[in-house]
Amino acid sequence: MSHFPRKAPVLLMLAASFGLAGVALADDLELAQKLATNHCAVCHTFDKGGPPGQGPNLFGLLGRKAASESNFTYSDGYSKAVSGKVWDEQMLDAWLTDTQAVAPGSAMVYAQGDPAKRQKIITYIKSLH
Ligand code: HEC
Repeated sequence: MSHFPRKAPVLLMLAASFGLAGVALADDLELAQKLATNHCAVCHTFDKGGPPGQGPNLFGLLGRKAASESNFTYSDGYSKAVSGKVWDEQMLDAWLTDTQAVAPGSAMVYAQGDPAKRQKIITYIKSLH
């Protein structure tokens, strides 16, 4: 019995810090989504089954075979360069760093030099599944 008064505040503190961590994560994801929307949504949709735009739909990208969206016509340069590859975080980071280095002649021209921004975009894409 005498333990309760001492333990209760500790438990409350734990609950509070978990709660705060949850809020911080949600904020991060919101920022990540904003960045991805600003940088990518003119050409890509992110929702499940979303239509292709100027680029293919990106829902569930990680773990997906590159150049595999059947309702999108990829450029020859891109298709050849990524043939047999599967999207993972490392490939996505390289892609966002310089698309033309990964797939010369690709129809997507993008180079993000800020690793923190690339990581945010990757975090957002990872959250889609
Ligand atoms: C101006 C239009 C445009 C913008 C903006 C754009 N993309 Fe693309 N994206 C494309 C096109 C077009 C392709 C197809 C490339 C090809 O066929 O050469 C593509 C392909 C891709 C692929 C390959 C998908 C697959 O199925 O293999 C990924 C991943 C991708 N884009 C991610 C992004 C991300 C993330 C952003 C935002 C940082 C972005 N793109 C911004 C036009 C764009």
